[in-house]
Amino acid sequence: MILFKKSEELSSFLLKKRQKGLKIGFAPTMGALHPGHISLIGNSKKGSDLTVSSIFVNPTQFNDPKDFEKYPVTLDTDLDALEKAGCDAVLLPSVAEIYPNGMKNLPHYDLGYIETVLEGQYRPGHFQGVCQVVHRLLQIVDPHFLYLGQKDYQQCMVIKKLIALTAMPTEVIICPTLREADGLAMSSRNLRLTETERKKAVRISEVLSFIKTQTRPGYLEDLKERAVQYLTAEGFTVDYVEIATAADLEIVQTWDGITPLVALVAAYLNGVRLIDNMVLQ
Ligand code: PAJ
Repeated sequence: MILFKKSEELSSFLLKKRQKGLKIGFAPTMGALHPGHISLIGNSKKGSDLTVSSIFVNPTQFNDPKDFEKYPVTLDTDLDALEKAGCDAVLLPSVAEIYPNGMKNLPHYDLGYIETVLEGQYRPGHFQGVCQVVHRLLQIVDPHFLYLGQKDYQQCMVIKKLIALTAMPTEVIICPTLREADGLAMSSRNLRLTETERKKAVRISEVLSFIKTQTRPGYLEDLKERAVQYLTAEGFTVDYVEIATAADLEIVQTWDGITPLVALVAAYLNGVRLIDNMVLQ
């Protein structure tokens, strides 16, 4: 595995590979890697000739500075895990490498509705930051395929929108959420949970499974409310429990029994914000 710190060096390395006809797969990350991230590398290895990853904790997507400061960093084990997974190249850029003109006056993307709901509503500016870094990374790597995790359901939709807005040729491939044995969605933020909190965190996926079994055509607000009450009683501070259309995240209050749905949760456990989702059909 080749390590790159300079984006231009990675770009010219990849240009040569592309000229030889190799298909490039890319899985960007913020590090603190777990098997969920590594599964993206595995998918890329299956679908592309050359797999590239990046580790960059992007300051512009953290609406809460404390969350940025506390974001776990485990670089040595990350590089080991990427190497073992067969990743071919990894970019470890500095902030100046990603934002050579500084972090002020970065582009603004017209994301429309998708930026106004759920994560967009509770983390103002977050998706602009995601687009700023992903746009730059895509310009550097110019991959044929971009591997993203369903764990960040709305992020996948935002990045698809970014690619459409900027007319980039990359195809997005969404990979399933990897879970711990008890059902907790793997997340770098799980490292910040105490043992007791870690055990409690599984309630989020349990609530999603409960919603999945209980969703019937008709009014859904009572079901969402019960889920919020349950998580609150368990000690979570809930941002939202929502059921939305799987295709465009329109919030659904009354279900027609046909439209595919997704249930999404965001909740804090002692200051650590956890998100998860489950497609309902
Ligand atoms: P990060 O949270 O490190 O996640 C990197 C990628 O791993 C994302 O596509 C995410 O959806 C995926 N992922 C995370 N947990 C997963 C799990 N349990 N199963 C499968 N895939 C999982 O998402 C980001 O970083 C950043 O916003 C980024 C896109 C890198 C831009 O900074």
